[in-house]
Amino acid sequence: MNILHPKRSRTGVALRRGLAASCWCAFLLAVTVLVFARRAAPAQQSSPTPGMDNASSGNAENGKKIFVSDGCYECHGREGQGSTATGGTRIGPPQIPLEGFVSYVRQPALRMPPYTTKAMPDKDLADIYAFLKTIPLPPQGKDIPLLNK
Ligand code: HEC
Repeated sequence: MNILHPKRSRTGVALRRGLAASCWCAFLLAVTVLVFARRAAPAQQSSPTPGMDNASSGNAENGKKIFVSDGCYECHGREGQGSTATGGTRIGPPQIPLEGFVSYVRQPALRMPPYTTKAMPDKDLADIYAFLKTIPLPPQGKDIPLLNK
């Protein structure tokens, strides 16, 4: 009994350490899930302004002006082509629906600064979206004649 005891307790300590570590992991996981859930929630709740649900309601010409005057181009390039220098992604043509586009600009996830409805009304964003829709996707290698000689 006396001989076995230290061995047993060592196993006990190891077991308890193991349990503590997995509790810690579970706790970290829960925190991560909560943080992401809270971030995702407002984007899902936001409802689009009536009349703003299709891109054709935006004025592309006006959108092009605002895209430059209000600084989107500084990080995303004049054609929304993106920039490795600023980390601004390619947004022309947009690959996400208008609703998601607007909610991203209101609450960016990473480095982009947020634009409030005061600074950039929904209507202006619909115009910018319409402008970005007019930009063609870059051609694929197989569609460039020079590369297929
Ligand atoms: C200061 C630089 C900066 C400015 C100005 C800026 N953006 Fe961004 N934007 C970013 C960066 C960087 C990202 C990549 C994700 C991130 O870091 O938030 C991004 C991501 C986005 C996305 C998400 C793209 C995707 O991959 O789905 C949209 C939409 C967007 N920007 C629209 C705009 C619009 C519209 C404007 C002008 C009203 C604007 N941005 C102005 C830096 C900027």
